Formats: sequence, structure tokens, C-alpha cells
Amino acid sequence: MTDHSLVATELSAGYDGKAILDGLDLAIPSGRITAIVGANACGKSTFLRTLSRLLTPTKGHVLLDGTSIHRMPARELARTLGLLPQAPIAPEGITVADLVSRGRHPHKSLFSRWTRKDDEAVDGALAATKTFDLAERPVDELSGGQRQRVWIAMALAQETDILLLDEPTTFLDINHQIEVLDLLTDLNRARGTTVVMVLHDLNLAARYADDLVAMAGGKIHAFGAPDAVLTDEMVREVFGLESRIIEDPVSGRPMMLPIGRHGSAGAGANRR
Ligand SMILES: Nc1ncnc2c1ncn2[C@@H]1O[C@H](COP(=O)(O)OP(=O)(O)O)[C@@H](O)[C@H]1O
Ligand SMILES: [Mg+2]
Repeated sequence: MTDHSLVATELSAGYDGKAILDGLDLAIPSGRITAIVGANACGKSTFLRTLSRLLTPTKGHVLLDGTSIHRMPARELARTLGLLPQAPIAPEGITVADLVSRGRHPHKSLFSRWTRKDDEAVDGALAATKTFDLAERPVDELSGGQRQRVWIAMALAQETDILLLDEPTTFLDINHQIEVLDLLTDLNRARGTTVVMVLHDLNLAARYADDLVAMAGGKIHAFGAPDAVLTDEMVREVFGLESRIIEDPVSGRPMMLPIGRHGSAGAGANRR
């Protein structure tokens, strides 16, 4: 696995003249797992889209190994960097096997034939995401969780050194969430894949990430080890929520317990 540097400098981007990212600076740690957390609409998806060339910055740059990705041909970028968007849309009627095979497109030229290596990549991705049995089914007919795993399979089949995933665990029950996070960790450990993912569950983010990024208002609010980033101050400042941080007895990582108006001992919620 080659080391890559992916760096956003003074990055601004938005929609219809409205700035969402506001001079954001971040160097994505290579070969590590980074989780991005932040309140709704703070710009997490906009950041991943700009990092992957779907959105052009209004200011600043995204440099991959020193070259601006916005000047790079799309296919060339797609051989190194893959994105699973937040709400991907499958072509109507496409089967799981066909969709996952599309992950191989960046590796093919107009004249190159489908090879055994392509088959292996697709089969490996189907197996890793436990979607092998769905291969002949139309994607439209799957449950939200099955579909999400199929999209992850497509991203895996692309076999990129850098993988950006926007809320890869949405629609998944807790068991499948853990399976996906374990799978991404396996990929990181085995191949050195750089994983950057947006997660809503702060505790899973703290457990699985080597580095945590907390975003607020289109900027990086905090970046660093989970211990340093997942604090009650951060949760208050970024989410406007009072919380208590304890040590996760399973992982030893920080764990956030929210304090609402109801639901805590003494708050009248434990009525029988
Ligand atoms: N395609 C779009 N056109 C216009 N505004 C958008 C578009 N996508 C997102 N936005 C706006 O940009 C802001 C940030 O959105 P997003 O990056 O999706 O936030 P997050 O992923 O953190 O929830 C929101 O206010 C959202 O409404
Ligand atoms: Mg989003």
C-alpha cells in the first residue's frame, strides 16, 4: 500500500454562492481511520464531496500527493480515492452484481477486458459485506440495510488506497453497524487503506477511529485522538448537549452519556 497525502488547505465551498465550508484546514492521516462527527448541516457531507472532487472549492485546495484533485482526471483520482456518498442512487433495475462491478470502472479503459482480478475484487467485496446471496437481486428491491451493504461492497470493489464514507452505518442494525466498522478496520489493518468516515454515533466513532474530527460551522472544531476530542466541552460546543464522558469498559476509549431533561436518575424518568 502506498502512502498518500490528502490535504485540504483553506478550503471553502458551498452551494449557490452560499459558503458552507469556511476556510477549512485538515491533513488526512495516511493509513489510519479518521471519523468525522458534527451536528446536522455543519458541512460534513459537503467536506467529503469537496475532498472527492464532486464539488469544486470556491477557495483553497485539496491536494492529493501534492496535486490539486480538481485538476486531475476523474478516473485517475478514482483509482486512488473512493467515495461512498450519503444517499447514493442506483440506476433503475440494476442488479447487485452489476452495481458492485461498477466499482471496477476506474480500473478499466475503453479497450481493456474484464479480468480475473476484476472478478476477484467483486467477489471479495460481496463476500466481505455478506451480500453474495443478493448478487442477482435488483438493488431497488433490497431493504435499506441490505442496500447500504451493497454500496459499501461497490466502494470496496474499487480497491482504492483512500476510502471516504459518508455515514456508512445508516440504516444498519447495531450488529451490521459493528460488522461494517470491523470490516473497515480489517481493510485498514490488512492493506493500510486510509479510511475517513462520517459517523453519527460518537461512541462508535471514538471506539473505531484512530483520529476524531469534530466539525462545526464548516470548520474543524477539534482534531486528534478520541481521548482529546470527545470531551464534555466539545459535545456542549458542537452539539449543544450536556453530557458526561466515562471510559468505555469494552474499549477503554471515551464514551459519551447524554444528559437530557428526562431519562436520567433523579430526573423523574425512572417512574414505574
Ligand atoms: N445540493 C445542495 N444545494 C444547496 N444546499 C445544500 C446542498 N447540499 C447541502 N446543502 C446545505 O449545506 C449545508 C451543509 O450540508 P451537509 O454538508 O450535507 O451537512 P452535514 O452532512 O453535516 O449534515 C446545509 O445547510 C445544507 O442544507
Ligand atoms: Mg451529511
